[in-house]
Amino acid sequence: MKIIAVKNYEEMSSTACNLLIEKINQVDYPVLGLATGSTPEGLYQLLIEKFNNNEVSFKNVKSFNLDEYVGLKKDNPNSYYYYMNNNFFHLIDIPDRNINIPNGLAKNLQKECEEYEEKIKQANNIDVQILGIGLNGHIGFNEPGTSFASVTQVVDLNNTTIESNSRFFKSIDEVPRQAISMGISTIMQSKEAILLVTGKNKAEILSKFIKEEPTEDLPASILKNHENLTIIADEDALSKFNND
Ligand code: PGA
Repeated sequence: MKIIAVKNYEEMSSTACNLLIEKINQVDYPVLGLATGSTPEGLYQLLIEKFNNNEVSFKNVKSFNLDEYVGLKKDNPNSYYYYMNNNFFHLIDIPDRNINIPNGLAKNLQKECEEYEEKIKQANNIDVQILGIGLNGHIGFNEPGTSFASVTQVVDLNNTTIESNSRFFKSIDEVPRQAISMGISTIMQSKEAILLVTGKNKAEILSKFIKEEPTEDLPASILKNHENLTIIADEDALSKFNND
């Protein structure tokens, strides 16, 4: 596990951007695991800028998103399909056929999960997985208590996540209660993982993560066993750990 301590959000985003571009330019057909939420927005903006400056192309990139809410239509601004298109995909040259996001409207959600897992295997697993961490330590939507052996599945969101994500919705009642999430073992099979952590509100969970042994009560903690994990964390996120 490598921790890159950076000053602020901008530096976290640019450090992640440089690592990703290096990988994209190194591998012939890179497979990226992508995340949503507020943390990676700056990263996507920088990647778009680099694309506009002809410093990177996504023509040969295949992507798999970590998760999607169950029941939100694609044109719902809170769906992760909408987020990814709006913040990233429609502003770069990635071919549509290379984009994979779980379909939270599938009639048979179980089948959708199995097929998603299979598609990742067929792609020979993810080269670089971008991750954020939830206030409760979740990765993807794998909430505390999720088995480390889990594969892509339908999950129930817990109250911390529902409350935290309600900031994007008109009211908390509109936050979906379920999602499809890549499993923890799926995430662990990525060849490289980059965990982005920013802000004072993540200081508590990041400090716990760094100090504790892997436990299913803190899903992200399994990443400490990942063969190639880089954490990029800013001063605010590291403030508790540094002061303990
Ligand atoms: P955030 O979400 O980037 O909006 O803080 C992270 C997460 O819940 O995984």
